Amino acid sequence: MNIHSEKIIIVDFGSQTTQLIARRVREHKVYCEIHPYTTELATILKHKPTGIILSGGPCSVYDKDAPSIDAAIFAQNIPILGICYGAQLMIQSMGGVVEKADKREFGKSHIDIKFDGGLFAGLENAETSLQVWMSHGDRIEKLPEGFTVSAESEHSPFAAIRHTEKNLMGVQFHPEVAHTLIGSDILKNFLFGICKCEGNWTMGSFVDTTVEAIRKKVGSDQVLCALSGGVDSAVTAALIHKAIGDQLTCIYVNNGLMRTGETGSLLKFFDETTKLKVIDIDAEDYFLSELAGVVDPEIKRKKIGYGFIKIFEEEAKKLGDIKYLAQGTLYPDVIESVALAGATVIKSHHNVGGLPDIMKLDLIEPLRELFKDEVRLLGLELGLPDEAVFRQPFPGPGLGIRIMGEITGDRLDILRKADVIVLEEMKSSGWYGKVWQSFAVLLPIQTVGVMGDERTYEHVIALRCVDSLDAMTADWSRLPYDLIGRISNRIINEVVGVNRVVLDVSSKPPATIEWE
Ligand code: XMP
Repeated sequence: MNIHSEKIIIVDFGSQTTQLIARRVREHKVYCEIHPYTTELATILKHKPTGIILSGGPCSVYDKDAPSIDAAIFAQNIPILGICYGAQLMIQSMGGVVEKADKREFGKSHIDIKFDGGLFAGLENAETSLQVWMSHGDRIEKLPEGFTVSAESEHSPFAAIRHTEKNLMGVQFHPEVAHTLIGSDILKNFLFGICKCEGNWTMGSFVDTTVEAIRKKVGSDQVLCALSGGVDSAVTAALIHKAIGDQLTCIYVNNGLMRTGETGSLLKFFDETTKLKVIDIDAEDYFLSELAGVVDPEIKRKKIGYGFIKIFEEEAKKLGDIKYLAQGTLYPDVIESVALAGATVIKSHHNVGGLPDIMKLDLIEPLRELFKDEVRLLGLELGLPDEAVFRQPFPGPGLGIRIMGEITGDRLDILRKADVIVLEEMKSSGWYGKVWQSFAVLLPIQTVGVMGDERTYEHVIALRCVDSLDAMTADWSRLPYDLIGRISNRIINEVVGVNRVVLDVSSKPPATIEWE
């Protein structure tokens, strides 16, 4: 079903910034989808694209087996913007020449506009505004017939090109990255000036069309959804509930490994504000007894995952006739599962393993088209509380993978108390929302300290705070020293059993965000 009145198709040639192109397009309220370059032209055309963007990519167009595309795409009378590799491919496919450049252009560069219409409409040449970001080792050497130059840079005589009669154009630089200061204007010109989009894709319209689609798909059947306390499952549940009301049942399994207050406010909201059916299972004793004596991180993860499936399955069976399982799969997960040759896939998936296979339920994934920040907007649109919508990501195995060594009630207690202090201080200083994640980790060692006149031999807490866009890569957050100092002082003074706090200053890769 084509529920979008206008749609941009982004053909992916394996660039690390393809998803960024999609985000930028959607920021202009235009719906878009990414499809791998291996997609048949007929399939692309079935989408009735309002415009097409060809992404960058790591290869050279003249390489043997370089990713390519059916050249007939250029004869469809659909506006096409090629970005870097995409532009080179367009030029080569239409009879131009692309060669290895004498000087590779990486990073900041400046362009000189030669044509102030099309992509550059409304933009004027000015030293400060025409900084662009380049990342290429090849360049266009000769244009095919019908093409002309729109902008040049120091090392690229054809930094931007266009067909003089058809809506075919390309840029050697990357308009999707923030370093290209006029990038947003260029994309805007493509979307609105050239493709004539209206920009009517909003969260309100997304809710309307998705609610309609869910109703149609589900009919009078029953849907089950696992609530984790995280924003994705909460938004999934709220959206499906809006569509089918009490045909939806949610199961929340308390595995005893939650942070203090992690799910409380959300469950309260669902309880008080909506009539969402939530089966709240307290399985703390079961999980803690399963985990007793377990030290190996992988075994911990497996036991927690298995326990969740077992309990979920038991509860689902009690409910009887369920046809669908709702999951909060997001767009980046969908894209990553269609990995391209040549592209580097970094992220590992952490979904609840095997649930759909075991349960033989059909899947409903209403967030498949959305990025995380869009899910948050959707959550607000659906009236979820800010606290739930802007919560930092929290891993499925919970505090279990933030306690190095054995998980016991006492050790959970220490970690929870330290973690509450981290969160309180992050929130009161205004840093909670600025970082991707911030949390405490309990280490499996004890160190010597002195309190009053007494020697102590107690636990160590590590403070882990990271900045990230999507958890695929991350860097440690540069928190102010006085904030770090306050967190450390409070943990050591207020959490009995801890006499030392250390700061994790590792980036991902090579470290990961969680310690296990
Ligand atoms: P890592 O530690 O791999 O984590 O850098 C990347 C992101 O995923 C979260 N994470 C998980 N989420 N189940 C989840 O739902 C898991 O098993 C899991 N392990 C890590 C982590 O908090 C970070 O946001």
